[in-house]
Amino acid sequence: MTAVPISCQSPPGDLFVPTLESERLVLRAPVLADAPAVAALANNRKIAEMTTSIPHPYGLADAEAWIAGTARNPGVTFAAFERKGGAFVGVCSYEWRGETIPEIGYWAGEPFWGRGYATEAVRAMIDHAFTATELEALAASCRVTNLASRRVLEKCGFQWTGAGLCRVRALGASVPSDRFRLDRRTWAALRAWGKTRLPVRRKAVRA
Ligand SMILES: CC(C)(COP(=O)(O)OP(=O)(O)OC[C@H]1O[C@@H](n2cnc3c(N)ncnc32)[C@H](O)[C@@H]1OP(=O)(O)O)[C@@H](O)C(=O)NCCC(=O)NCCS
Repeated sequence: MTAVPISCQSPPGDLFVPTLESERLVLRAPVLADAPAVAALANNRKIAEMTTSIPHPYGLADAEAWIAGTARNPGVTFAAFERKGGAFVGVCSYEWRGETIPEIGYWAGEPFWGRGYATEAVRAMIDHAFTATELEALAASCRVTNLASRRVLEKCGFQWTGAGLCRVRALGASVPSDRFRLDRRTWAALRAWGKTRLPVRRKAVRA
C-alpha cells in the first residue's frame, strides 16, 4: 500500500482542535479531504483485527463516515502526518467509552511500521492530554497477541492493570486483551526523568 501525500495544514477557522508537532510528525484533526489517504491505509486486515471498530474491507465511505464522526467530538482524534512530505501515517485518539477515564487508541499504516511513529504520535497526544486537561489518568488496552502495541504502551509509560475481553468488529468476536493505565503522576515523573543527566560513573574502588 502506498501513502497518499496530503497537506499538513489544520482546517482553517477551527479553534478547538489543536495541531500538535513532534520531532517527525504533525498531528491534527482529520478532515474530509483526508478520506482517500485514510481509506488506503486502513483497508488492511492486520489493522482491523487489532482494533475494536475498524471494519474490513474498509472503503472511502467508511473513512468519510469516520471523519464526520470525529468532528462531532473535536479535540480528541488526531490524524498524523510526516512533517517531511506530509504523508498520512495513521491515527491516535483518546475517548471516553463509558469509563471514568478516557481510553487511547491508535493505528499506523503498515508502510510506516517499525519507525517509532506510533510511539512518537501517542507520546505527543499524551503530553497534550495531560497539559490541556486535568485528566487524572489515561487507559489503554490491546489484544494479548498484539506485542507491537503492547510495546508502544510500555514505551509511553503505561502499566498493566489486568486482563479482559474486547470486541473486535472485523472478527465479529470478543478476544482476550490486556488493560493498561498511565496516571498523571507517573507521566510527570517520566517527563522529569527525561530531563535529568545520566549519572557520572567513576571507577569502582576496592573496599
Ligand atoms: C501497533 C502499531 C500501532 C505499532 O506502530 P509502529 O509505528 O510500528 O510502532 P513503534 O515503531 O513506535 O513501536 C513498535 C515497537 O514494537 C516492537 N515490535 C514490533 N513487532 C513486535 C513483535 N512481534 N514482538 C515484540 N515487539 C514488537 C518494535 O520493535 C517496537 O519496539 P522497540 O522500539 O522497543 O524496538 C502498528 O503495528 C499498528 O497500527 N498495528 C495495527 C493496529 C494496532 O495494533 N493498533 C493498536 C491497537 S491496541
